[in-house]
Amino acid sequence: MAMITPHPRFPLYPFLFGLTIGVSLTNIFSLLLKPSPQKHNIYLKMFTNLLSLQPNYIPLPSILLNYVPEQSNRWINLGYWEEGGDDKSYDDACTAMVNLVKAKLTKVKHDYIIDVGCGNGDSLKHWSKPSIGINITPLEVTLANKNGTCILGDATDPKCFLEIFNTHPNKTPVICAIDCAYHFNPRSSFYSNCKNFGFEVVLTDVILKDGHSWLNRKFIEFACRIAGIPKDNVKTKDEYVSELKGMGYHVEVQTVEGVFSRFANFAKRQAEICEDDGLRFEGLGSAIDDLKSKGTFLKGCEDAFEYIIVVATP
Ligand SMILES: C[S@@+](CC[C@H](N)C(=O)[O-])C[C@H]1O[C@@H](n2cnc3c(N)ncnc32)[C@H](O)[C@@H]1O
Repeated sequence: MAMITPHPRFPLYPFLFGLTIGVSLTNIFSLLLKPSPQKHNIYLKMFTNLLSLQPNYIPLPSILLNYVPEQSNRWINLGYWEEGGDDKSYDDACTAMVNLVKAKLTKVKHDYIIDVGCGNGDSLKHWSKPSIGINITPLEVTLANKNGTCILGDATDPKCFLEIFNTHPNKTPVICAIDCAYHFNPRSSFYSNCKNFGFEVVLTDVILKDGHSWLNRKFIEFACRIAGIPKDNVKTKDEYVSELKGMGYHVEVQTVEGVFSRFANFAKRQAEICEDDGLRFEGLGSAIDDLKSKGTFLKGCEDAFEYIIVVATP
């Protein structure tokens, strides 16, 4: 009888040990996190999906999100679909998210907009006043410059703001950020720099829902870290508001309902469209799977987080 022996260079025992630990950890997590059978399922799914993610900032697969033949947008935000508006395109939903912020600007005195974390610059085409983007990802900065003006910089570093102010003397900016402030590492440095410059901030962001147990919160912070969201940015509404008030801001927070689950529905529909159009066979199979798993992850987020618009006045 033939014996199956492991390849001499294959680390069988460390592999089996790792597998056992991985499976046990998943089970322990799932048992500890069992607030309700439904939630249990969601957290387990989130955890499983996290295993397919990598640390640090990972953009959503913009090529698939924006896959509509003959259009060239490269949005990478969660979009805003109103209730019952599932038939709206991704472009319309992302524009609607910019419009949520734009609506707040009518009350803010400003001559131009600094669009921080502007991604590939699609939002730069939508502001009613002149705009300039700041983004940390060099490739995105190159693409954003096809839509408007964008400089390479880190939202937490005052240098990039100074660079812009120096080229626009005597003009008042408002600082806007669409669906990215939760990535700033840490977001508090971004806010305190803006406060020191004395400029108003209007942005969309994510806060932790109230009522999570200590353990749930630790799990969520861990999951966020893997998804490129620093632990210090995971804050409940009270913690978020009191941090900004402590810096001297007057703060207004408004909840936007259904952002995570409607994006998740869209990601599922979009993955099916990409699949039906044969993109899997054009080498985009792993991107399609990535889109599906991010959709599942974001569906789970509806239970844990609230999506908000913040107006912070110095
Ligand atoms: C979810 S995307 C949103 C992009 C864009 N606002 C949109 O609506 O399409 C988050 C963006 O934030 C940018 N980003 C993350 N951390 C940043 C930082 N510290 N400073 C500037 N940009 C940052 C990323 O490069 C990415 O483009």
